[in-house]
Amino acid sequence: MSNTIFAFGLGIGTQNKEGNWLEVFYATPSLNPEKNTVDALLESTNYEGGNSTLVLDESDLNRLHMNLLKAGNIEQAELASRLKASTKPVILCVLATDEAPTNPAEVYLKLQLISHRFVKPHNTVLDGMFGLLINTAWTSEGPIDVRELADRQLSARMEGRTIEVFSVDKFPKMLNFVVPTGIRVGDAARVRLGAHLAEGTTVMHEGFVNFNAGTLGNSMVEGRISAGVVVGNGSDLGGGCSTMGTLSGGGNIVIAVGEKCLIGANAGIGIGLGDRCIVESGLYITAGSKVAVLDENNQVVSTVKARELSGQSDLLFRRNSETGTIECKTNKAAIALNEMLHAHN
Ligand SMILES: CC(C)(COP(=O)(O)OP(=O)(O)OC[C@H]1O[C@@H](n2cnc3c(N)ncnc32)[C@H](O)[C@@H]1OP(=O)(O)O)[C@@H](O)C(=O)NCCC(=O)NCCS
Repeated sequence: MSNTIFAFGLGIGTQNKEGNWLEVFYATPSLNPEKNTVDALLESTNYEGGNSTLVLDESDLNRLHMNLLKAGNIEQAELASRLKASTKPVILCVLATDEAPTNPAEVYLKLQLISHRFVKPHNTVLDGMFGLLINTAWTSEGPIDVRELADRQLSARMEGRTIEVFSVDKFPKMLNFVVPTGIRVGDAARVRLGAHLAEGTTVMHEGFVNFNAGTLGNSMVEGRISAGVVVGNGSDLGGGCSTMGTLSGGGNIVIAVGEKCLIGANAGIGIGLGDRCIVESGLYITAGSKVAVLDENNQVVSTVKARELSGQSDLLFRRNSETGTIECKTNKAAIALNEMLHAHN
């Protein structure tokens, strides 16, 4: 095999009673590691190439520590050494290639690569991931297979403890796995693992960011970023606004928001936006909505379906408060308005 690989991670995993992995925490996943590091993995463990998930014992970790030191990868060498003290199973997940994941350990590695900002949303293959993940209760006593929860709750009560259940979901909170630099999040439950929050992103309490989605720069997020949606630098999502995951109306094109846009409070988009667009507060633009395109004198030039305007820049969408018609104007005010808002981020 060629000793270049897509990614690997050393982590700590949780299994259910059947021995299936519920989740894996990778302290410092590594993207495209150097050949020396890959050689160290091959020499120290049972890894023989390809995409592989292995449970490591103390002697594996000892060898890995020594060989990674020789390879000059101090960070991973120190991690291997530290993990020798783990009372929970230690996992080495190696992805030689970026293909569809085949087990939860691989899914978790990919989600963490995104949340660590090593990979942008849509830049790793996640096909079929949903079916691989087990419904998990995320609790004050760690992740528990939801089918085992009632039994654990009873046991805890018998010992005088109450298990606090934070959520039942296939995905955990991102912040319990990684807190990227330069961000603020008002409520950790609103950001799922696999979200991509760029430096300069604030997610306020009503904001939400799904997996394989997120921001690429400064953004104030007070609305929802659906799975797959990527928001460009300098764009803000007003309170309670909504982005649809795909072009609405049964479309399968994933929508995106460009740079320096403002989606107003309680507005929503079922189409993509280019750069410097504004959507008026409360206006939901679905792909099939008829939109009157206005000229500078507010005269209707044409009426089009919103999907025809998807991805175009410098547009202002509003619902005419007198007629109810959705209107689209070239957005000369957008830049100035955004600068003013960003001054208060
Ligand atoms: C759409 C929006 C950007 C327009 O704001 P603006 O560019 O400052 O425009 P103005 O309110 O100054 O209005 C300009 C003109 O358009 C008219 N106008 C504005 N909205 C209109 C509407 N929906 N229907 C008809 N006319 C409208 C105004 O009456 C005004 O008319 P005039 O020139 O005769 O005085 C603004 O209303 C908006 O929704 N901003 C979003 C703010 C937000 O939600 N931020 C996030 C907070 S969490």
